[in-house]
Amino acid sequence: MARHHTGRQYLISCIGSFHGRSYGSVSLTASKARYHEGFGPLLPGVLHSPYGEEAGRYIRDVIFHRLAPATEVAAIVVEPVLGEGGYVVPPPSFLQDLRAICDEHGILLVTDEVQSGMGRTGRMWASQHAGVTPDIVLAGKGIASGMPLGAMIARADLMTWPMGAHGSTYGGNPVACAAALATIDLIEGELAANAEHMGQVVLDALGDLAGRQPLLRDVRGLGLMIGVEFEDPEVADAVEVACFRRGLLVLRAGDAAIRIAPPLVINREQVTTGLRIFEEACLDVARVGPAAFRRAVGSHEAGPETPETA
Ligand SMILES: Cc1ncc(COP(=O)(O)O)c(C=O)c1O
Repeated sequence: MARHHTGRQYLISCIGSFHGRSYGSVSLTASKARYHEGFGPLLPGVLHSPYGEEAGRYIRDVIFHRLAPATEVAAIVVEPVLGEGGYVVPPPSFLQDLRAICDEHGILLVTDEVQSGMGRTGRMWASQHAGVTPDIVLAGKGIASGMPLGAMIARADLMTWPMGAHGSTYGGNPVACAAALATIDLIEGELAANAEHMGQVVLDALGDLAGRQPLLRDVRGLGLMIGVEFEDPEVADAVEVACFRRGLLVLRAGDAAIRIAPPLVINREQVTTGLRIFEEACLDVARVGPAAFRRAVGSHEAGPETPETA
């Protein structure tokens, strides 16, 4: 839609980002080379910038100056909090700068809130933490509480394509849409606030744990989108498996992080249980070493798709 509306060809996304695995979205994705393996050459016209504070300077000085004129860029696509790429929370100036670049050059700002949106970070959209309003928002995952639904949300004045220019067999499925409406009511009513509150409890507790458990190198997050960085991928993998064996589902992200993204309905008691198991799992790994938790080849332990599940 960004290309259709602007009539421009280039798209910019960020190194470290995950946007999906269909041909267009996997071309924007740049979190791991293996997502591109066997599918190249990818969609032409996609350029990648660093993620975070240095993005604005790179887009101005390298992309616009050396690679593609700003007048030919249709959109900048960005995750307000990096998901599969490691649960990285950028400073608010990152999104604000991208907004300013887009305003200056007539480029559309597209926020991919598939993972960070729908209340997960304590606000409906993670971009609200930076006070930035995008032109297009992409939503999915929690949008319909498990019913299959994704949404591309844009201002009416951007929808300049004629009726039928785009479509999908399952688009607008009434059952999934009804689930989404009920979900939105719950998020606006109580669950975004619960995510903010419970997220702070988890962040504080993991911060304490990092003080007494040297395996943990960093704890970060917003609401119930929390990342824990370990010293290397092997340790992170081992903690994921140790958690799984004790009944707690967590998932790798980035190179050596684990993401903690519980359901937004989680209560205090469940948080306490989860934290206890997480600490016990870290202790297990510290005591016997990560090698003891290596998955057998072909094993589905800790999820059939890990770590590729985004
Ligand atoms: C930020 C982000 N964007 C896009 C996707 C892809 O969504 P889908 O698998 O529905 O295409 C994911 C996760 O899978 C994601 O985390």
